[in-house]
Amino acid sequence: METNRFHTPVLLEESLSLLRPVPGGTYVDATVGGGGHAAAVLDKSLPGGRCIGIDTDREAIAEATTRLASYGNRFVPVLANFGTLDSVLARLSVSEVDGILFDLGVSSHQLDEPSRGFSFRADEPLDMRMDRTQTLHAAEVVNTYTVQELTEVIRRFGEERYAKRVAASIVRSRSKRPLETTGDLASAITQTLGHAAGIKSLARVFQAIRIEVNRELEQLTNGLEHAIRLTRPGGRIVLISYHSLEDRIVKNVFREASRATRPSGTSLLPDVPIRPRVRVLTRKPVEASPFEVRANARARSAKLRAAEKL
Ligand SMILES: C[S@@+](CC[C@H](N)C(=O)[O-])C[C@H]1O[C@@H](n2cnc3c(N)ncnc32)[C@H](O)[C@@H]1O
Repeated sequence: METNRFHTPVLLEESLSLLRPVPGGTYVDATVGGGGHAAAVLDKSLPGGRCIGIDTDREAIAEATTRLASYGNRFVPVLANFGTLDSVLARLSVSEVDGILFDLGVSSHQLDEPSRGFSFRADEPLDMRMDRTQTLHAAEVVNTYTVQELTEVIRRFGEERYAKRVAASIVRSRSKRPLETTGDLASAITQTLGHAAGIKSLARVFQAIRIEVNRELEQLTNGLEHAIRLTRPGGRIVLISYHSLEDRIVKNVFREASRATRPSGTSLLPDVPIRPRVRVLTRKPVEASPFEVRANARARSAKLRAAEKL
C-alpha cells in the first residue's frame, strides 16, 4: 500500500488563523521542514504572496523545494539557522515581513530516517545534528563531556531527576568502549534506571543531548528576538513548541516584549514607561484537539503561542 510521505502539519488551521496571511504578503517559515505549513501559507497569500522557507537541514530544504516547486519563485528556500534570521533577510534585501512561523524541533522525516540518530526506538549512529555540516554531534557529547557537564546537560535540557545517575552510567559504559549508537546510549540509561524508568526517561535524556548538540534554546531566543524586530506593525509571529523549556522561552520573550513599563531599579522611583513591541494573542497556549492527537501522536505535546507586532 502506498503511504502519504507528507505528514499533516501540526496545528495547521490554528497557526494559519493566527498568522492570518494576506494576498501579496511576505512570510517566513523559519522551520520549513517538509513544507506543509509553507504550502498552506502560499495558498492563503494568493495572489502574489511569498514565503521564505528556512531550514538548517539540507535534506529538509531539498524536500521542501521539490514539494513546493509548483509555486515558482513565490517560495524562496534558504539553508540557514533561524538564529541568523536577520542576516538571512538582509541577504534577500527584505527589511520587514508580514508574519513569521516557527514549528520547532525535529521533523517526522528526521525521526524516521535511520542515519540521523534522533530516535531511541532504533539502533542508529549517535548523531542528532540537524545541520550535518556542524562538527559537534551526539557521540562527541556523550563520549567527551565530563560527568558534571553531562549531569548539567541532562538536568537542564531534559529536566531528568536522575540526571546524576544517568551521567555516571554513561561515563562507566564509555570507559569500557565508546558509545557509538543510539542503542548504546539507551542501554547506558536503562542499565542504571532499569526498564521501569521507561520511555519517559529515555525521551528526556535524548531530548537533552539533542538540545545541547543543536544549541536549540540559544537559537530559539535569538530567532525570536530577530522575528520581533523584523515583523512589520500588524504582522504576526506564531510559534509551535514541543516541550516545556521551549514554551517557557517563548512565553517569557513575548511577555517581556509586551511590557509597557520596566522597573526603575529603585523602590524610590516608579517603573519607567516603555513602548511595548508586541501584543500577546494567546494568553494560554493553544493545544491540539483530541481529534488531531488521535491522528498524529506528535501533536500531543504541541503548544502554540502568537503575538502581533505593534
Ligand atoms: C517540526 S519540523 C517542521 C515541519 C514543517 N512545519 C512542515 O510543515 O513540514 C522542524 C524543522 O525545523 C528545522 N529546524 C529546527 N531548528 C532549526 C533552526 N534553529 N534553524 C532552522 N531550522 C531548524 C528542523 O531541521 C526541521 O526540519
